[in-house]
Amino acid sequence: MINIDAKNHVTGRSVYVDDMPEIKGTLYALPFDLPAAHARIKKINIDKAISSPGIIKILTCTDIPGENQIGGVIPDEPLFAEDEVHYCGQPAGIIIGESESECRQARRKITYEFDELPVITCPREAHGKGLLIIPPRTFRLGNSAEAWKDCEHVIEGTADINGQEHIYLETQGAYAWLKEDGSIYLASSTQAPTAVQFAVSRVLNVPMHKIEVDTVRLGGGFGGKEDQATPWAVMAALAAQHTQKPVKLILHRMDDVRMTGKRHPYSSDFKIGLSKDLKILAYEVTHYQNAGASADLSPAILERTLFHSTNAYFIPNVIATAYSCRTNLPPNTAFRGFGGPQGKCVIEAAIVKAAETIGVCPDEIQKANLVNDGDEFPYGQIMQDTEAVNSWNEAERNFALEEVKHRTDSFNMNNNRFKKGYAVQPICFGISFTNTMMNHARALVHIYKDGSVVVSTGAVEMGQGVNTKLLQVAANEFGISPSKVRIESANTLRIANTSPTAASSGADLNGKALKIACTNLKERLANVAVNSLGFTDVKFENDRVIDPASNKEILWEDLVIKTFQQRISLSEHAHYATPLINFDRTKEKGHPFAYHVYGTAIIEVTVDCLKGIYHFDSVKIVHDFGKSMNRDVDLGQVEGGLVQGIGWMTMEEVIYDEKGKLLTNALSTYKIPDIYSVPDEIVIEHLDSTGSDFAIYKSKAVGEPPFMYALGAYFAIRKAVKAFNPDAELSFNAPYTPEKVLMDLYRNHSQ
Ligand code: MTE
Ligand code: HPA
Ligand code: MOS
Repeated sequence: MINIDAKNHVTGRSVYVDDMPEIKGTLYALPFDLPAAHARIKKINIDKAISSPGIIKILTCTDIPGENQIGGVIPDEPLFAEDEVHYCGQPAGIIIGESESECRQARRKITYEFDELPVITCPREAHGKGLLIIPPRTFRLGNSAEAWKDCEHVIEGTADINGQEHIYLETQGAYAWLKEDGSIYLASSTQAPTAVQFAVSRVLNVPMHKIEVDTVRLGGGFGGKEDQATPWAVMAALAAQHTQKPVKLILHRMDDVRMTGKRHPYSSDFKIGLSKDLKILAYEVTHYQNAGASADLSPAILERTLFHSTNAYFIPNVIATAYSCRTNLPPNTAFRGFGGPQGKCVIEAAIVKAAETIGVCPDEIQKANLVNDGDEFPYGQIMQDTEAVNSWNEAERNFALEEVKHRTDSFNMNNNRFKKGYAVQPICFGISFTNTMMNHARALVHIYKDGSVVVSTGAVEMGQGVNTKLLQVAANEFGISPSKVRIESANTLRIANTSPTAASSGADLNGKALKIACTNLKERLANVAVNSLGFTDVKFENDRVIDPASNKEILWEDLVIKTFQQRISLSEHAHYATPLINFDRTKEKGHPFAYHVYGTAIIEVTVDCLKGIYHFDSVKIVHDFGKSMNRDVDLGQVEGGLVQGIGWMTMEEVIYDEKGKLLTNALSTYKIPDIYSVPDEIVIEHLDSTGSDFAIYKSKAVGEPPFMYALGAYFAIRKAVKAFNPDAELSFNAPYTPEKVLMDLYRNHSQ
């Protein structure tokens, strides 16, 4: 089934917040901020701005009726700065005016008096000063202190991994208005309608039942709207409350890039020990996470970094410690993979460094240590239904790894200017919110008396195709054609207390709830068929309800109306919570994930050793989709995740100056992958795996895992660089931009 949004997307009919028909009298809001990353505020002069044409009101922290607090995990983040600012771009208030351009003109007239305070942008420096968001956490397995003695090789090093800007095509935004009883309607481009509702309630001092948050779709979220859609929605609602007028707040791209957080940069130290036969016996890692100025989701992201510190490998002795360090950057936030990619990146860097030191191929070490059934991860989960070895073997065989190696070697022997490199990249990603409490969802299904069906869940469509999958679930359960089903927006009045659509679990959680709702409705319909029509067995298929035993059948619509006439409810609201999962943070042990997603990629690259530029020849992937319920949607997720990951690993470079000002604040200075960056060849094969009962229809979650195949992009380039310049001492510092590649090609170069 094709993505139900496809046609409207390509014809431009899909409606985003800024496309909504505007109510007469709508006002516009624009945030303003100090030109400093860390400062004590003395005075904000708004008089000139207030009297600027078209300006209605300016709101600051003193205009907040409730709490000036939007921190979702830890209450450490004011909506509007009070006495101090802690990062460049921290909102100090909003200007409300009759047009956006008038707000912009007024913004230029605001002046600030402040005393600058020391700015910290480096997580290690923050750690040194004791500036931590939460106490450090450590996951342990076995006894690494003992294990070092048995190691033939012990290698230490550091890895630095930069952040990543989300560049969702639709910038952050919201549109708010008041209803007749003073309750609030809020259209928000958020992955987390309930989080928005809760924050509005807290800041505006209005109970949650008076706030309706509605989300039709996002023009991309990628984690950037899991927590950070909230402030803009709260500001729009606050402005509507103050002016009693509809208010729209849509961030301009440069404000969005400047004012919102990104993927967390990490700086990590590692020590890895291997036996003679390349078994990894011990691994110790310390991660310094650059959290930015407030907690946001950093503690949860830190946790996932720890969960994925050993990627797809079984290592018997592990100590993994992580510090969440408070710096003067915008609060960094969720981004596809949620800290997992950073955790995996370090173990991969450790393996590559070990391989280079020992004089073997990294893939020999990788292959020798893949996780198997019965192995224990440092967080205590005993692995079942692992597909790490299967996906590796399939990739090795189907994509002829030996040939890749020979091809690369002989090319490099015969070429000077160009060198080729390759890397094998296995992944293993845990599916479930790491916070067990969040793994639940609800679905509301109405069958109308004409037989048409409408479905509401808390799932937010952001391009990942969750609505298409939900529609498939309802159509499949009822045995009716997809055209009889509609998926409604995520709306807090229909579905309450939702978790964000995140952790790749949107289709699993909401799909399972929806399946329960459909099952319950089918039971009622089946009872009518049995009691009133004499069916002995009831099957729902092909828009009919049939009794295979007696060959009786009735049209779906006719059974629906019969049920209605018997005064039986055709509506159902169902709840699903993932069974079995648990995690005890006091012990750092448990069974946090419903299941894991696996896969293996082989990446080949050609580097131009004169220019430092490179091009990916191919990425070939064996991916564990389980029993994919929509191959086209899932392929799109793998391709998109891969290319987004290649961007992170190779070209996207977030740069702040020492005063905490973002230098890469637009697409002219921040390079994201385009069609020319896409590998010449992408092959994606389905691993023949059993799937998981915790996945909807055994169709495994696919949103985030493929992002991590791109880690291999870095190592493939590094291999080519080494082929040109074998003696270079290379650090690990992602992204591997052409500039850095060029430097490495001629680092300690003898010719
Ligand atoms: N795909 C598109 N097109 N747009 C997005 O914003 N977000 C990713 C992934 N794929 C995203 C996407 C992220 S970060 C997550 S967690 C999942 O989709 C969320 O959706 P799911 O839980 O339905 O997979
Ligand atoms: N993934 C994504 N978002 C989350 C998670 C997670 O594991 N935990 C809390 N929010
Ligand atoms: Mo995705 S980072 O869990 O929104």
